[in-house]
Amino acid sequence: MSETSSGRSPGPTVQEVLAADAVPAPVVLQAEYPPENALRSGDTDLSAERYFSQEWHDLEVEHVWRKVWQMACRAEAIPNVGDHVVYDVADESVIVVRTAPDQIRAYINSCLHRGTQLRHEGGSVQQFRCPFHGFTWDLDGTLVHIPNQWDFPHVVPDQFCLPEAKVGEWGGFVFINLDPDCEPLEGYLEVLPDEFTAFPLEDRWTAVHVAKVMPCNWKLALEAFIESFHIGTTHPQTAAYVADANTQYDVFPESRHVNRMITLEGVPSPNLRNVPAEETIRKMQRDVPFHGGETIVPSDEHRTRDLLAARAREKLSASANADLSGLSTSECLDAIEYFLFPNLVPWGGQGVPICYRFRPNGNNPAESIMEIMLLFAKPDEGEAPPPADVTWLSIDQKWTDTPLLGGAGMVVDQDTDNLIRIQKGLKASRKGAVTLGRYQESRIRHFHETLEHYISTGASQ
Ligand code: FES
Ligand SMILES: [Fe+2]
Repeated sequence: MSETSSGRSPGPTVQEVLAADAVPAPVVLQAEYPPENALRSGDTDLSAERYFSQEWHDLEVEHVWRKVWQMACRAEAIPNVGDHVVYDVADESVIVVRTAPDQIRAYINSCLHRGTQLRHEGGSVQQFRCPFHGFTWDLDGTLVHIPNQWDFPHVVPDQFCLPEAKVGEWGGFVFINLDPDCEPLEGYLEVLPDEFTAFPLEDRWTAVHVAKVMPCNWKLALEAFIESFHIGTTHPQTAAYVADANTQYDVFPESRHVNRMITLEGVPSPNLRNVPAEETIRKMQRDVPFHGGETIVPSDEHRTRDLLAARAREKLSASANADLSGLSTSECLDAIEYFLFPNLVPWGGQGVPICYRFRPNGNNPAESIMEIMLLFAKPDEGEAPPPADVTWLSIDQKWTDTPLLGGAGMVVDQDTDNLIRIQKGLKASRKGAVTLGRYQESRIRHFHETLEHYISTGASQ
């Protein structure tokens, strides 16, 4: 079948490669949900102004960030009663706090006296005492102290509880929703819990957490990480071991909030011809630390992917202090990346144990906050180490300014260099629109259909 008529890259499909793996992939990966069947609109163009206009940003705040479930933190970040994080998005600020061993609540981060932020960063407290005049609330949100109470006969403590946001948990993540009438998290997650029964993220811990202010709109940052089309041009160093162009993109039937892609590693890009196995192995060992060490010798007997996976299983098990000998070849190697609208990009598998989060930086449509977490397997025995603190990078710093991300820092710097140019180039555009590929950029189209759905249904209410 020709390239044009198939609508897919030449070369073996993800399913053909997975079917030949020595240790078969989980069942959820052995399925395809072709995006073109699910996309509700055939339109491939998106207006450029959505990436820089204040009006678009304001619509997103009103109809998305104040309406939908969003990942606020990992549960292990607040292990003890009183531990809390502050989750900020646009003008909204929420304190996510453990109020009992098995209960997490979220309070609007604004004093009911004169509005001061009760907490400006995470920590551990047994009461929320406002730093301005000292109004104080218990962890359960009840007002317990009014300074100079004689002056506030009109304040009835029962009516002065801290307002709450909705809270839900899944996969070791804590989610919040600012809309009191929102649908339950369980329904919002759609297929995600079923898909992740194969990759239980509640059994992971946050080994690395880096956050950076990005010089671009939050959607541009997100979009740069949910397609593999750009890899050949932006990250050419990976072509010998990342099968970029025959990535599988899935939009689940009837799904509004979830999509995924599977990019194979340990096999070369279909855009290259005749890459020797030795080169695939050497470059993967060079770039991916846990494939490193003693040189892996290509074999006629075993496929390169299976050789690499065998080494990965040993190294992952040793570093996690867990028995990961049963991991499939795909979970050891591939980029198995899901998206949950609007801010969470969790990965399955263990070879690339990444999780991203994206959101606007305040109300500036030209800046965003991107976070990279590495979620390692918990040890089989004993407690996982305490989760990593967040390492913040400013807009002027590079991802490689921290050693925490290893070789991935250089790759994400390559993406960030693009994003600076995209943010500027879109404003100069006379066409006033981006034109998406039909297949490889289908997750981006799906994301915007969901975004437009929330903005249009919210606007019509
Ligand atoms: S503003 Fe919080 S106590 Fe006055
Ligand atoms: Fe990239």
